[in-house]
Amino acid sequence: MSHFILNKNYTFKNFDEYLLAYQKNITHSKKYITSPIFYANSKPHIGHIYTGLVCDTWVKCNGIFNNEVEFVSGMDEHGQKVHQTAEKMKVSTKEYVDQMNANFIECFKNYDINYTKWIRTTSYEHKVALERVWRILEKNGYIYKSKYSGWYSISDENYLDFDKDYINTNPNIVWREEECYYFKLSAFEDKLREFYQNNKSIIYPNSRYNETIGLLDQGLKDFAISRPKERLSWGIEVDNDPSQVIYVWIDALSAYLSAIGYPDDKYKKLWPAIHVIGKDILKFHTIYWPALLMAIGLELPKQIIIHGWWLNGDQKISKSLNNAIDIGNLVESYGYDSFRYYLLSNMTLGEDGSFKETLFEQNIETVLSNKFGNLFSRLIGIAKRHSLELLKFNKALLNSKFIEELSRLRENILIYSENLSKLNLYIQSFNDGLEFLNVYVNDNKIWELTGEQLNNELYSLFYVFKHLALFYYPLLPNACSKILDYFDTKSKYEDALKFKNIIIKENVLLFPRLSISKNEKI
Ligand code: MSP
Repeated sequence: MSHFILNKNYTFKNFDEYLLAYQKNITHSKKYITSPIFYANSKPHIGHIYTGLVCDTWVKCNGIFNNEVEFVSGMDEHGQKVHQTAEKMKVSTKEYVDQMNANFIECFKNYDINYTKWIRTTSYEHKVALERVWRILEKNGYIYKSKYSGWYSISDENYLDFDKDYINTNPNIVWREEECYYFKLSAFEDKLREFYQNNKSIIYPNSRYNETIGLLDQGLKDFAISRPKERLSWGIEVDNDPSQVIYVWIDALSAYLSAIGYPDDKYKKLWPAIHVIGKDILKFHTIYWPALLMAIGLELPKQIIIHGWWLNGDQKISKSLNNAIDIGNLVESYGYDSFRYYLLSNMTLGEDGSFKETLFEQNIETVLSNKFGNLFSRLIGIAKRHSLELLKFNKALLNSKFIEELSRLRENILIYSENLSKLNLYIQSFNDGLEFLNVYVNDNKIWELTGEQLNNELYSLFYVFKHLALFYYPLLPNACSKILDYFDTKSKYEDALKFKNIIIKENVLLFPRLSISKNEKI
């Protein structure tokens, strides 16, 4: 293993030194990660779930090492579109956002996405924070009032860059002339360029870094950060000017601060954040947000991880295209863990992925049912056939192959827990771990062994399996919890580390046996 660098003051030579530091909690301050906050105009679909899972898996992974993480998610509830949808449904806007909020909360609960704070932009705490952000921007001289005239997209709630002679056939795009407040974004072009030149690894992946630099190269124009109240009635009014309502993106981005108590000093313990977002909202997070943060005098984000889109065919899955995949039945048949595994392992972080039901089934069958679930049953079966009720531990037990495999697993999980962008390395390591165990059992014909040799080999296999369950609890929380329970182990590293005798209990079904259930259906 190369050196682990926790921060510039701490470098560790090996895993144990590193672990000790973790456990004593001497090097880590609490980490802070955010998912985007979700528009209250759509039910959750796999795109939203994926964003949540990317955060949650990393948070759970840190939890194994007692590393505290604040994980913020929530709802983006303002905007004219939200108001109009509620009107169409003949319910009050408040009732409507409450329902959408409940939908997301339920969905995240089902997928075991354990945010530590759920922020809603309609909450009082958020209003207080947003008003403070606005006041500081104003005080620092970055806000001015001016007249806007140009094209405006109702669906994106955004002014557009078309010239006046543009021929419009889209009813969503309208001509607007109105007074509003502007943010001096142009003042930050050079500062942002300098920042990104010195902090290249802040944006992941590199292609999105280049995209950001491309946006800077096009030049930054000031942009409107309020709308006349008659056009945006569902939002937070500008302090001292109730004729204006704060632009939804300023409102939404400020949730990353309101969620951790801003303007109360307690936010300082957590700021700056690691943001996880989809590629469609890059500009808001890599240009607008850092500029706003500079303008209010706060540190810029620690990292901005930008993932791709889940596609249906070659189209982004989205509410406006009405092409969400109905996953209800799939989840019912295969369980949340299977879905979680599929979404995380079938998209390279940063790239797009296409959802394919056949691939999903194949993936669950080969990896989760056969290599993972069946292997566990097989090992228990072998022990039972030899009437072993207890596997005894003796210290010289693990041979060099097991030790090597364990250190590979440990190394990869630690790399990932330090850097979320290593998600795919982490998942690959799981697949490799399963391969190792399956090949080992077959090559060494474990079922033919007897006596002490069988005890030792089975013990070692279970010991590695236990580590696999611990390290991949973040990826497969339900199944791995069952395995950890089997071993009387908690999802904490120091607990799994202990060598104890293993009691052979009844087999545990981890994943549906697909070929059997399919035959049964026939
Ligand atoms: N409300 C804004 C975010 C404000 S953050 C200060 C928003 N909301 S959203 O509900 O439309 O999207 C939330 C997240 O889901 C975004 O990161 C978006 O990229 C992601 N996804 C929405 N559809 C997606 C796919 N089809 N695939 C993957 N993720 C996509 O944007």
